[in-house]
Amino acid sequence: MKDISITTKFTAFDSVADLSDDIKSLMLEAIAIRKKAYAPYSKFRVGAALLLDNGKVVLGSNQENAAYPSGLCAERVAIFQAGAVYPEAKIICMAITAASDTNTTAAPIPPCGACRQSIAEYEFKQESPIEIYFTGEIGAVYKSDSLKNLLPFMFDKNFL
Ligand code: THU
Repeated sequence: MKDISITTKFTAFDSVADLSDDIKSLMLEAIAIRKKAYAPYSKFRVGAALLLDNGKVVLGSNQENAAYPSGLCAERVAIFQAGAVYPEAKIICMAITAASDTNTTAAPIPPCGACRQSIAEYEFKQESPIEIYFTGEIGAVYKSDSLKNLLPFMFDKNFL
């Protein structure tokens, strides 16, 4: 018997203002699309902006449904849109932001488990890492160099 440990790594920025100009403008696009989220049930709005290697930016916001599980997270709205419209493009970077209509989110809000699994699929597909930046409404932004930091011990096609 032996213990196995996996380490993971993030970079913390104090705020959106501390990001490089390119990433800041991607995050500002995520913030703008977050405000257009369709979230009448949770009142929790999430925005995602993807930068592709063809220079295009693809956006997503969460889309809820009266039948709750039929809704979709912002990250998957964006990543599926990118996969559908630009199937040959690689995703370089992803900016995510989340805010509630009822309180101020001050902690970095990470993508949910299902979104992590979906993002993982595209990292494997494109054979290159996706940089992921995530934040709340205010406060710190966390950066991961790859989805792998967010989903250690992930399930992927190599197991099939
Ligand atoms: N949500 C996202 O859009 N992304 C996540 O990673 C976590 C949760 C959405 C789903 C739902 O519309 C609302 O936030 C509350 O869970």
